[in-house]
Amino acid sequence: MSIESLTVNDNRTGKQYDLPIRNGCINAADLRQIKVDTDDFGLMSYDPAYLNTASCTSRITLIDGDRGILRYRGYPIEQLAESCSYLEVAFLLLNGELPTPGELESWTREVTHHTMLHENTKKLMEGFHYDAHPMGMLVSTIAALSTFRPEAKDVEEPEVRRLQTLRLIGKVPTIAAYTYRHSLGLPYVYPDNELSYTGNLLKMMFSMGERNYKVNSVLERALDVLFILHADHEQNCSTSAMRVVGSSHADPYVSVAAAAAALYGPLHGGANEQVLRMLNEIGSKENVPEFIRRVKDKEVLLMGFGHRVYKNYDPRARIIKKIADSVFEVTGRNPLLDIALELERIALEDEYFVSRKLYPNVDFYSGIIYQAMGFPVDMFPVLFAIPRTSGWLAQWEEMMQDPERKIARPRQVYGGSDVRDVPPPLRRAA
Ligand code: CMC
Repeated sequence: MSIESLTVNDNRTGKQYDLPIRNGCINAADLRQIKVDTDDFGLMSYDPAYLNTASCTSRITLIDGDRGILRYRGYPIEQLAESCSYLEVAFLLLNGELPTPGELESWTREVTHHTMLHENTKKLMEGFHYDAHPMGMLVSTIAALSTFRPEAKDVEEPEVRRLQTLRLIGKVPTIAAYTYRHSLGLPYVYPDNELSYTGNLLKMMFSMGERNYKVNSVLERALDVLFILHADHEQNCSTSAMRVVGSSHADPYVSVAAAAAALYGPLHGGANEQVLRMLNEIGSKENVPEFIRRVKDKEVLLMGFGHRVYKNYDPRARIIKKIADSVFEVTGRNPLLDIALELERIALEDEYFVSRKLYPNVDFYSGIIYQAMGFPVDMFPVLFAIPRTSGWLAQWEEMMQDPERKIARPRQVYGGSDVRDVPPPLRRAA
């Protein structure tokens, strides 16, 4: 018996099994040998919502949820946020190393080269209602890009994958800006390839025809740091959607659209939007204790709090809190900040939150900054999706190169009726 193993006694049969342990895991497929008789399918593991199942081996992002640690490719998130640009970090996620100056120059040129959208994409977007949610427009338009690039289906071809990766990272900000302009009925602003990734986004969103639109460098950098913090977060709901859809060899456009759809939900990337709505509903610091009571009575969730993996302060929330000061110096202080700080103060002292290890997550403060920068609330999940695109694509690329890759296909425990005959219509139960 190897020491790195698990001995299982099957009390149904009295048999004993020795299951190897690798990287702190047993392989669920090893359980299949545990059978009552030869007709038995074999033991499965049951794990709704994947509470304790590793779905892949990944070398991209590390989260230590108990210690509040986040690293991309081994680099602490704090150092990346301090010293790098979003495009450097996107390169790191995709390639495993930070770019040299020469690599960064050509990477930036290549991404910038792909920021334009086909004019027909604009026509497609014009079909959306003026009050369509920007995430709905983003998801649909990213999926539609698949029809413009049929060669993207050749997912086994590394150069084809690389090209679509560049296109997606380049085009997602343009689509995002168009969703905003569309909802206001404003003319679309074409990408300005002289500007930085975030500077260009700010211009495409907010420029009002000025001859020399001047990007505010503090806001540009703050947005860039927010993009770094949102770029990847290992096997969360949307990244798992990316891997699951991609595992069927669907092209990366529809796979990213699926990932963005998963992100849209209020329990995931849609939480930043819900935080702002919650803070507005609370209205003032005096109403915070009553809101906390409702949370503890399980009437509502405290949006922007809690995380499946972090059982400590989300390191991203800590960095965001710091950025807020630099942004507010330019924009003026967002009055909702006082309500958020009071919520955090009370929650962090309260037994309900302490015992459940509920801390502010990335979404708790990001919306307050986005709002101060002039982004409307329903654009917040879109601002999450833009940088996460590089993370989704890095995870997809890693999966495509993984020798263990297979189509994702969970098992189920069947809990329905036993076999029965179809009754005639008049004898069916109402
Ligand atoms: N407010 C109040 N109670 C909460 C909250 C919250 N935000 N989050 C968890 N709880 C309670 C939950 O009711 C449960 O209590 P009990 O043990 O009495 O049943 C306990 O804490 C454990 O929660 P859980 O639902 O089992 O935790 P989970 O890992 O399944 O859910 C979560 C994680 C993020 C979905 C959840 O914390 C949540 O809904 N938070 C609010 C939404 C949010 O901020 N989402 C953004 C996540 S970070 C950005 C991202 O990457 O998506």
